[in-house]
Amino acid sequence: MICNNIGVNSKNHITFSGHDVCELAKKYGTPLYIYDEQRVRENCRIYKDAMDKYFPSALPCFASKAAAFKRIYEIMKEEGMGIDVVSIGEIYTAMKAGMPLDNAYFHSNNKTDEDVAFAIENGVGYFVVDNAEELFAIERICEKACKRQKVLLRLTPGIDTHTYEAVNTGKVDSKFGSAIETGQAEEITKLALSMNTIDLKGFHCHIGSQVFDSDTFLRGSEIMLDFIALIKTKYSYEAEELSLGGGYGVKYVESDPEIDIAENIKQVSEYIKSYCDKVGLNVPKLLMEPGRSIVADAGMTVYSVGTIKEIPGYKNYISVDGGMTDNIRYALYGSEYTLFVANKAADEANFTADVVGRCCESDDIIQPKVTLPKPERNDIIAVCTTGAYNYSMASNYNRICRPAVVFVSGDRDYLAVKRETLDDLVANDI
Ligand code: LLP
Repeated sequence: MICNNIGVNSKNHITFSGHDVCELAKKYGTPLYIYDEQRVRENCRIYKDAMDKYFPSALPCFASKAAAFKRIYEIMKEEGMGIDVVSIGEIYTAMKAGMPLDNAYFHSNNKTDEDVAFAIENGVGYFVVDNAEELFAIERICEKACKRQKVLLRLTPGIDTHTYEAVNTGKVDSKFGSAIETGQAEEITKLALSMNTIDLKGFHCHIGSQVFDSDTFLRGSEIMLDFIALIKTKYSYEAEELSLGGGYGVKYVESDPEIDIAENIKQVSEYIKSYCDKVGLNVPKLLMEPGRSIVADAGMTVYSVGTIKEIPGYKNYISVDGGMTDNIRYALYGSEYTLFVANKAADEANFTADVVGRCCESDDIIQPKVTLPKPERNDIIAVCTTGAYNYSMASNYNRICRPAVVFVSGDRDYLAVKRETLDDLVANDI
């Protein structure tokens, strides 16, 4: 199985963390997002335990853009994770879940004055400042509120996950952060250090998503530590914190690599410790912001099959009762997924089709060219590894209601987010 929390039971049904997903579909309706609570917690602990073990001081912060609803923040609080938030909507949701904000890191390349004021008033621990304008906005609001704000500066180290060996200017041209290469990173650091209301704690970089080894993290840390050393020499300021941004990749399909995250964190720590030694720095508090690798394999989506269309000489289509409104990742990125007919789990896979949604849009494809047992109307299709960036990127295109989110935990299942209703859709219409 693509992931060890997925199985097949005696009824030939797919199970998720031991729960029959066809039973869950019957109980809660489809489409349905299902989360495995234990797996979310295990994924948090992989980062937490390894970072505690291998760094003198460290904190994993869940990148909540991957899945943002109250129950997730409650779990993050219980697991002792920090959070990365990118909007006041995420901050508000975390607050409503009772998540303390001291370890919240507020991102975004364009925080409005309203965002800045909201975050400061509500005690968001850290701003990850993108640009000088944002520093001025924080200064204005802190002066009024007689507050001082802890800040990391987001820098672009000029490497790209997939192409850094060949082209290392790719990421300098980014809407995020200030580039080291152009001197803008040093400028913004000087500015931050000159402001009384700004408590500069360190630096942040985000190298990429779906990273399967530590090479880019090592290269990124080296550039960031060189920068920290330069700033120390020139301005007698030594950063206390260094954030390396998003976490490691996940296995969506059999051909994706399997990765030992703890072992990779160990390698990063050894490298950082020896590099700090070499350039005369204390090892900073190390932050990471994993999103995908915390929730992706803890999620599954189940749909009911509707129309099955066979076009002789062309191809076949299996239409389900969801689509790009609950999973836009194939339409946006061509993302791969592993699918099953959940009520014919171990039957022979002999029917190749595009699994498509019900939106008025040809690119509304969940996955093209999938070979499955031939389904019938009302069969259940399970799409695996949908816990990251599916619910959080869901939309109401075509006025389709967003699905419910259900958790399974031990032998319990419970609702975390209700299915939207038709009345929800018109609630704000005047
Ligand atoms: N930190 C920062 C500053 C980020 O921009 C991101 C992701 C993360 C952390 C989390 O990275 P992760 O551990 O999840 O790889 N919608 C896309 C992913 C966009 C990621 C954007 N930033 C998708 O569905 O694949």
